This record gives sequence, structure tokens and C-alpha cells, in this order.
Amino acid sequence: MTPVTWSASGDAPGKNRGLRVARTRVELERELAQLRSGGATVAFVPTMGFLHPGHLALLDRARELADRVVLSVFVNPLQFGPEEDLDRYPRSLGRDLELASARGAVLAFAPSVEEMYPGGPPRVRVHPGPGGELLCGAFRPGHFEGVLTAVARLFGLVRPDVAVFGRKDAQQVALVRQMVRDLELRVEIAVAPLVREMDGLAMSSRNAYLTPAERGSAPALFQALSAADMAFRGGEHRGAELEALVRRRLEASPEEGPDAPRLRLDYVQAVDSGTLDPVQAARPGHLLAAAGWIGETRLIDNVVLGADAPDPRVSMSGRET
Ligand code: PAJ
Repeated sequence: MTPVTWSASGDAPGKNRGLRVARTRVELERELAQLRSGGATVAFVPTMGFLHPGHLALLDRARELADRVVLSVFVNPLQFGPEEDLDRYPRSLGRDLELASARGAVLAFAPSVEEMYPGGPPRVRVHPGPGGELLCGAFRPGHFEGVLTAVARLFGLVRPDVAVFGRKDAQQVALVRQMVRDLELRVEIAVAPLVREMDGLAMSSRNAYLTPAERGSAPALFQALSAADMAFRGGEHRGAELEALVRRRLEASPEEGPDAPRLRLDYVQAVDSGTLDPVQAARPGHLLAAAGWIGETRLIDNVVLGADAPDPRVSMSGRET
């Protein structure tokens, strides 16, 4: 199959901004050779698709960092636990390609599972080390091994100059950075800010699972983290106290009424954003990270303590590279 050119407007392929789509490794290789001719640099944005403005902000950042933007759209089975949502994870490839094209991406790699892992699940995996056991890792065994194995393989296939990740997944960022350092991978890692809905909810493909009532309650997580950040700014620097404040906020009666769906916390922890180690005395730049469930949907979020947050949709101003 030859790569198709996808129209940003949904028109017949051919007359458009020119997002090329590679479904196989051979097509990807051919497209990359074309794209790099003349020495163009490549910025890469790995995704699992069902793109939202958080993903699109990564594409915008990628455009600033290199000559050409390549994204991948691949729901990676390795990073889902046996009881998790692999089968119902939302997918919308056609729409994703239109959005990515409109945002200036020139190549999308959208392989099937067989194309991504031709010999079956890879036998050699990237072990995330102790950081993979902390925070979300304690609740999702094997998750970060699956993430790092896929990301390493995508880096090998795309060989980007720079790859862009979102701070929404702060633990993923820390572990990818660690992997790049420890394995001496020749790629620069850039981080883009967390993009939020107007009411503060961190944008996520999984938000599509929320019922209207759950969606109404979901901003409680950000509100609780923000309250702790306010306390931090007011002089409360004890990590344990900031965590307790988040728990208390979430246990208090929801504004939506006593029957509103409640968030059940997996964890809330003040951590160093690089090492992910818990901090007893929080400093500006440390993270307050949390994850929990509303109904059947797992939400994660974090705030950078003491950072400027003038716009609720972007919890940290400026660039994070
Ligand atoms: P996915 O959840 O699709 O996210 C792709 C990228 O978008 C990640 O870097 C993530 O941090 C970023 N992102 C998601 N929501 C965001 C938001 N609200 N604001 C800013 N950035 C956001 O993360 C994965 O896919 C996978 O683990 C992957 C890296 C593709 C490996 O399979």
C-alpha cells in the first residue's frame, strides 16, 4: 500500500496541506527519507490518538523546534493491564489526521499492532527502574515498561531530533528522560504545558468515558490540587500537609450536591519532578501529582507548586523545554 495524502478538509487526497500517512514501517522509512532530504530536522509527537487540544499543543511546540513534524497514532497494547480499557480506548483516526494536518504535521505513522510488533510482543523490554514503581506505577503494574518499550521502538523507527511530551503525564516525562539518559538515545526531549478545559479538568482522551454527572464532578481533582497550591503559596511547604489538604477537599461535600459522583483517590503525592521521589519540604517547581477514579474512568493530574497559573487551561505559563 502506498502512503496516502490526507486532506485537512476531507477532500479527495492530493490537493491539501500534505499530511502523508504511513501504515507500515517500509512506508515510514520511505517517507522519512523524503522528508529529511536537504537536511531537514524532525520533531516527533507520539500519541495514542483521539486527539484533543492537549495533543495539538504538542504539535505546535514541535513545529517551533524542528523543520518537520511527525506524529504517531498507535494505541499501545503493552501499556494496558489485563483489566484495563484497551478494547474501549476511543479511536478516531480520520479525524486525528485532519486535526494533525491542520496543525502542520507532515507525516503520521499509524501502524497496526502487527506492524508495530511484527514478531509478536517484544521479548526485550525497557524496564523503567525504581521510578516505574512510584505514583501511577504502584497502581498500574507493567504500565511504564509498556510505555518505554513502545517509545524506544518509535524512537528507533522515526529517529527524531527532538520528541515532545506533555506535562499532563509528568511521570511518563520523567521516565522517558531517564531512559534517554541511561541508554544514551540521541534525541532531545521537550515538554509542553498541561492543557485544561475551561473548568480546570485536565484534557484527556479518557474524558470521553465520563457521563454528564461524572464530567460535572471531574474538575474537583484540579480544584483540590489548586487549593493545595494556594496553601503552598501561603507558606505551607510540608508535603504531607499539602497531600492531606487535597484529601480533605475531595472528602468534603461536593458543590454539585450529596449524590454527585465522587472522586476516589489512588494517590496524591508531592514529588520532585525529575526523580519522582516524595518530598517532605516542598519547594517551588516540585509537583503535586494525583490520580483517582470517577466511576469507571481513571483521571490523573498535577500542578507545579508555586508556578504562575493565570489561565485555568494552562497550569504553567511559559515554555517547559
Ligand atoms: P496519549 O495519552 O495519547 O498522549 C500523547 C501525548 O499527549 C503525551 O505526551 C501526553 O502527555 C500528551 N497529553 C495528553 N493530554 C494532555 C494535556 N491535557 N495537556 C498536555 N499534554 C497532553 O501518552 C501517551 O499517549 C502514550 O503513553 C505514548 C507516549 C504515545 C506511548 O504509547
